[in-house]
Amino acid sequence: MIQTIALPKDTNSYGDIFGGWLLSQMDLGGGIAAKEVVGGRITTVAIDGMRFWHPVHVGDTVCCYADLVRIGRTSVSFNITAWSTQIHREHRHCVTQALFTYVAIDAEGRPTPITRIASDSSR
Ligand SMILES: CC(C)(COP(=O)(O)OP(=O)(O)OC[C@H]1O[C@@H](n2cnc3c(N)ncnc32)[C@H](O)[C@@H]1OP(=O)(O)O)[C@@H](O)C(=O)NCCC(=O)NCCS
Repeated sequence: MIQTIALPKDTNSYGDIFGGWLLSQMDLGGGIAAKEVVGGRITTVAIDGMRFWHPVHVGDTVCCYADLVRIGRTSVSFNITAWSTQIHREHRHCVTQALFTYVAIDAEGRPTPITRIASDSSR
């Protein structure tokens, strides 16, 4: 859903990539996937079980994938994984994973039933 590069502006005070930056990339990617499923406005209601397995370094390419796990009455959940590839290297590894849940909302921000479901919702 997302492919980007970790930049110096995304680092914490130690010069390492900030976990919150990575989480926001995953949330953006999941938000795109959720919008495709729902076909309308969505909001993030929960992020469960996030674990950072490996650090991300400045210059790494970061890719986020969203696998559809569940479609409820008003909510949809994705297993989102983030993968990083170091600069000038072929090998990539999974750096973090979490279950993101989004809720379909109406113009007033209230949960609304999911009526339209896209055919291919995982990538
Ligand atoms: C998301 C929000 C609209 C839900 O409103 P609500 O009245 O609490 O809604 P409900 O309790 O009816 O739950 C709505 C759906 O979310 C699901 N949900 C609620 N809490 C959840 C949780 N902790 N984990 C997973 N799903 C959850 C419910 O199971 C339900 O799904 P379903 O209809 O498919 O069964 C409201 O809580 C909200 O606006 N929160 C802030 C969202 C936000 O700003 N996100 C960005 C953070 S910066």
